[in-house]
Amino acid sequence: MALVNTKKMFEQAYKHGFAIGAFNVNNMEIVQAITEACKEEKAPVILQVSKGARAYANHTYLVKLVEAAAIECPEIPIALHLDHGPDFETCKACIDGGFTSVMIDGSSHSFKENMEITKKVVDYAHKFGVTVEGELGTLAGIEDEVSHEVGSYTRPEEVEEFVKYTGVDSLAIAIGTSHGAYKFKPEQCTVNEKGILVPPALRFDILEEVSRRLPNFPIVLHGSSSVPQEYVKMVNENGGQMPNAIGVPEEELRHAARLSVCKINIDSDLRLAMTGTIRKFFNEQPSKFDPREYLKPARANIKEVVRHKLIDVLGCAGKADICK
Ligand code: G3H
Ligand code: 13P
Ligand code: ZN
Repeated sequence: MALVNTKKMFEQAYKHGFAIGAFNVNNMEIVQAITEACKEEKAPVILQVSKGARAYANHTYLVKLVEAAAIECPEIPIALHLDHGPDFETCKACIDGGFTSVMIDGSSHSFKENMEITKKVVDYAHKFGVTVEGELGTLAGIEDEVSHEVGSYTRPEEVEEFVKYTGVDSLAIAIGTSHGAYKFKPEQCTVNEKGILVPPALRFDILEEVSRRLPNFPIVLHGSSSVPQEYVKMVNENGGQMPNAIGVPEEELRHAARLSVCKINIDSDLRLAMTGTIRKFFNEQPSKFDPREYLKPARANIKEVVRHKLIDVLGCAGKADICK
């Protein structure tokens, strides 16, 4: 089927207590890994492209790769989404150039400026049936080239005015997640009985208050990789150095997906699976040099990470048909 916007996906996700996985794509192997897992698990999916991905792989290549996936996987709904659109011009280029959904990330601006720029994108996007995600609050970590030392939680008292004024279709909020593989410092964590570091809980009180103020409205969580320790170990045992890489516990994401969170962004976990697998491959087989030989196991492991997310975290396996 043709690429879709996120409207129906979010309606169903909200109604049935699951979330759509939004996975970042930068090359063919990542697109294939994600969509093959979604096809096999009958899951709707959002493939998202950042400003950095467009700079790396080129807009046209990425659009065509995603369109190829839609041809190969006609039985599942796929949305092509701009992740962290920095300005109106980038959003317009994506709307004009085949994307079905865009995010305008005005979170580094004042509340008023964020409202104005978001409304401008919404007014343009809706003429073409493209859905729009806005953001209130900032996540710690790196959002494209912008590094935020500390984030600021979303202020629930701002969300009604923002959504009403801008007309956005979904809203990303900050409740303690952050981008990248180092989401929490070890000193912020407690140690459980198995000796595993447990990060501070997400601010579900903020999520609940936002949802109370915005009934039936889809909420988005960025920075939601769980940083699987199996892959951190694989990286570190094969020449890498990623000490203290800590992610969001998957049970918290599953809980959020049962509430109003309809889109969960995952990128770092796929990067870790790819990097760990390739490092291990070269450590074990240093004389190899055919990229197909190391990209193949990397792609297979990304696919299994995605499958696990669909089934155990997002709860969207088997939901493709109701999202069409
Ligand atoms: O939010 C950021 C995503 O993980 C994309 O990262 O800007 O390095 O492509 P990127
Ligand atoms: P992670 O770095 O946790 O994978 O978050 C990705 C993201 O939010 C993309 O917008
Ligand atoms: Zn993000």
